[in-house]
Amino acid sequence: MPDKPFASENLAADQTDGSKGSDGSHPPTQDELDLLHYKPRIERPVKQKIDELQQGERLRHVIFSAQFSVEQLEDLGSTADKICMLSRTPSGQDFLIRLLSHKRAMLYFTQPSTRTFLSFMAACQILGITCNEVRNPTTSSETKGETHFDSIRMFSSYFDLIIMRSPLARLAEACAYLMIDLEESDNRSVPIVNAGSGADEHPTQALLDIYTLQRTFQFADPKDSSITTRYEQLQERYPNLTRGLAGKTYGFCGDIGRGRTVRSLANLLANYEGVTLIFIAPRHPTLALGDDLRQRLLDRGVRIHEVDSFEEVVDGQPVIEGLDALYMTRIQKEHNDAADAASFAEIDFSRYKLTLDLVARMKQYTPILHPFPRDQHFGEIPPEIDDDPRAMYFRQARNGMWVRAALLSSVFGVDRQIAEFFRDEFSQWHHYQEELAWTTPLGTVQK
Ligand code: NCD
Repeated sequence: MPDKPFASENLAADQTDGSKGSDGSHPPTQDELDLLHYKPRIERPVKQKIDELQQGERLRHVIFSAQFSVEQLEDLGSTADKICMLSRTPSGQDFLIRLLSHKRAMLYFTQPSTRTFLSFMAACQILGITCNEVRNPTTSSETKGETHFDSIRMFSSYFDLIIMRSPLARLAEACAYLMIDLEESDNRSVPIVNAGSGADEHPTQALLDIYTLQRTFQFADPKDSSITTRYEQLQERYPNLTRGLAGKTYGFCGDIGRGRTVRSLANLLANYEGVTLIFIAPRHPTLALGDDLRQRLLDRGVRIHEVDSFEEVVDGQPVIEGLDALYMTRIQKEHNDAADAASFAEIDFSRYKLTLDLVARMKQYTPILHPFPRDQHFGEIPPEIDDDPRAMYFRQARNGMWVRAALLSSVFGVDRQIAEFFRDEFSQWHHYQEELAWTTPLGTVQK
């Protein structure tokens, strides 16, 4: 939570030496001191940090969702489309795999991950980047007392990129500052990509969420929005419907307070004109919208509503009937403490589960998103909903691979080459296109 005071409990969140952290009961560890060194930079408002993470026009380190403007999101989406299309042909694959075959990436994931880890790995593989990984800190020299910063600096000696996920909220950001300082003193420095930092941010998940929304709200591809709900047909039923993300109403349901994906996506959606965000969560301090995110959204002029069920009326209709997109989340019970367990007993959690009846009342085009994993025990999205054309979560995960490849191509400055190759390749494909009635690169209607 970049705008909040530097939380001392975060400093100790993944200590491996069993000490209590920076509570004054023992001398601070070097890890704590390293993080405290960057405290003044970390505590600046996000806007002030963004320039430091850039290199000219390009993103150098990817730490916050606030680093992305609408224009950058459009560019990334367009590169992701091209990578996706090129990956369908042997010549396109051959071109892509040579693009960054001289680069090596370290995937440093010390917090559980399936999708994010694998989709970054697949994204690297598409572009020919060789990957290595450290996933379990107990197999690394951190058990011998090595600091996070020493580990990161070691990785930067061997690799050209560090993609990292950590339970420690500020670690990725602090590592980016470490790299910036190393660069300034003429030492080796590599880009840092945040793949999830504590309860704070998950910017690349938000990128794939936005990419999925961009594709869905083109209303072009039957797989993205169902053949029966193409734009013209939809407009007959919803005359005010427009293409694109602006002006739409987005619902977020479930564990809003602890969901870093919600934080990152809400921040990105705030970039678009006239959006309304509705948070559907229990009225409980742990699970409801946090004060810092609420304030940030209000400061940016976003219309927000906080409700505790899909049935609450907003703008004259029950929430479930008015949404243009619905983002479901699981309840992150692994973060419950004893007080939560007791107070959660009062909550009717069935209100935060989707049912076929609720889905039947949603607009015909409203995509259902989920960052995944979904929780089979809680059942926020039961599997019977998977066959509904609006269930977008599996496509959303696949989109993560394309958009992460697009992001890496942009960080390494090869996105223009992709655009040029794509243009050439597609001019050769022109006859093909006519024969097969391809429409747009991703609005593919293959007859
Ligand atoms: C999420 C995460 O780890 O923040 N998953 C993901 O990266 N796709 C959400 C979650 O764990 O609920």
